[in-house]
Amino acid sequence: MTQRVLTGITTTGTLHLGNYVGAVRPAIAASREPGAESFFFMADYHALIKCDEPDRIERSRLQIAATWLAAGLDTQRVVFYRQSDVPEIPELTWLLTCVTSKGQMNRAHAYKASVDANVAAGEDPDAGVTMGLYSYPILMAADILMFNAHRVPVGKDQVQHIEMARDVAQRFNHLFGKGQDFFVLPEAQVDAEMELLPGLDGRKMSKSYDNVVPLFEGGAKGLKEAIARIVTDSRLPGEPKEPEGTALVQLFDAFATPEQRAAFRAELRAGLGWGEAKQRLFAQIDAEIGPMRERYEQLMANPERIEQILQEGAAKARAIAAPLLARLREAVGLRRFQPLQASTAPVAKVKSALPVFKQYREADGQFYFKLNAADGQLLLQSQGFAQGKDAGQWVARLKREGAAALAEAPVQRGEVDDALLQEALAALQAADSA
Ligand code: TRP
Repeated sequence: MTQRVLTGITTTGTLHLGNYVGAVRPAIAASREPGAESFFFMADYHALIKCDEPDRIERSRLQIAATWLAAGLDTQRVVFYRQSDVPEIPELTWLLTCVTSKGQMNRAHAYKASVDANVAAGEDPDAGVTMGLYSYPILMAADILMFNAHRVPVGKDQVQHIEMARDVAQRFNHLFGKGQDFFVLPEAQVDAEMELLPGLDGRKMSKSYDNVVPLFEGGAKGLKEAIARIVTDSRLPGEPKEPEGTALVQLFDAFATPEQRAAFRAELRAGLGWGEAKQRLFAQIDAEIGPMRERYEQLMANPERIEQILQEGAAKARAIAAPLLARLREAVGLRRFQPLQASTAPVAKVKSALPVFKQYREADGQFYFKLNAADGQLLLQSQGFAQGKDAGQWVARLKREGAAALAEAPVQRGEVDDALLQEALAALQAADSA
């Protein structure tokens, strides 16, 4: 089966070398694999969460689109679009928002980080937190689920968002799927080797640390100047240097073959000066980036060409998104009104009935519980408890954790097949967290 790969880049600012190495390059490489069907997009709705400067948003979308194209994206093979050109995405966001528990959003790292910063500063915990920031993971889930992506290449900081997308997908499938799944459960793909490309000071390359190496901005000169600012130790030319763990070598590695990496290390250990090493690093990076920079500049001089490419991409994306969204609208009950049928078929039940826990006390004085399917079949039977509250706690835990609590729970299974039991527990759990 073809694997769908999807990734987005938030369009605030321009891309730096870390974005190129961590996101753009692996995504383009993956799009060339046979059997892969790729979706890349500018997450410009996400950009609005962080930025209220319209001109900056506009410019950034253009620059980032040009960057992807210059880096070799083949728009014949790949669906390449702006998130905001696909209105099905915000519509899906709402459908998902309605099945996402607030508690889960409270646990999102980005939101928690804002709250922690506010608390540390003695402010109201939610100061400056918009609903956009708060709901960010749901929009991202819609990006992914809209196209039923199997794999989502992202940085480590985004892994939690993919997990949230899985949860939301599961909940939606369960609530409305009636046995068929609308959504594929996506998996994060973190390229471990290139994760966390260091910046000039050795910390993760990030605009917020002001330690980035620009990708195309400032031209070859900008690249050279940034490299000159890489922090090294004070060893002089001729003195042996420990290459491992230095930002300079890690940056080199990201553009080098295994042989080149080994040779560079050997030279540093033999006393290569840092100044010289920086020149090697520049040459190594520019060999890959230089030709792209030229294409980038040509594209930036012809925005209408980029616009045309993106319009074609949006049409391809919508051809996939619209039919799925139509099915989802149907499933949640946003349907066209139909003439009434003459037949008096009973109205279908809106939601399949949930299994039920029953707690009771036996003649032996002990407390018990059991779980019955909606049709009365016995699914689980507990042992006896001396205390009623112990039985109650197991019931609560099974509702909360579902099948995950089963191995430990002091229960026997009824004579039903495992799939039925699993489904019943999943249904309870979904109801519990709703
Ligand atoms: N949140 C991602 C980031 O900041 C960007 C993004 C938005 C994304 N939607 C996505 C990434 C969907 C992958 C899939 O890097």
